[in-house]
Amino acid sequence: MQRHHISLTVNGDSHELNIDPRQTLLQVLREDLELHGTHLGCDSGDCGACTVLLDNEPVPSCLVLAADADGRAVVTVEGLVQNGEPHAVQKAIVAHGGVQCGYCTPGIVVSSVALLQENPHPNEQQVREAIAGNLCRCTGYQKIIAAVVEVGAESGF
Ligand code: FES
Ligand code: FES
Repeated sequence: MQRHHISLTVNGDSHELNIDPRQTLLQVLREDLELHGTHLGCDSGDCGACTVLLDNEPVPSCLVLAADADGRAVVTVEGLVQNGEPHAVQKAIVAHGGVQCGYCTPGIVVSSVALLQENPHPNEQQVREAIAGNLCRCTGYQKIIAAVVEVGAESGF
């Protein structure tokens, strides 16, 4: 299979990559760039575990061909670290007990950060809608939602 060259900016770093044109963005992130914070769940767009920001929009990276991300900017959960510390959303979700197995957590964090960038002070319903594509089998969502609402209420987003 002929390789395909793409340029990708990931978490602020530029990458020149020769990919298999069948590779998804999720595969390139995990396998080529070894960014394992973005999780593979359903591999069909249903669970949200693979959510990343693509040009600032949350997308399921399992449904994006890496070739279609050529020239674009990606932010993964690793890119949300602030001054060497976890993002405020990550801290709040942990503080509220919103992490159990943690499989869904990176995707939920990315979707929540995307919401807060657009709507700095979301209410509970708006958080619910923002993370509607992120499935969590463990927590029942309430603690996660309370955490994101709190970050919006307290932060200077
Ligand atoms: S792994 Fe992409 S939505 Fe489930
Ligand atoms: S904490 Fe286990 S799936 Fe969400």
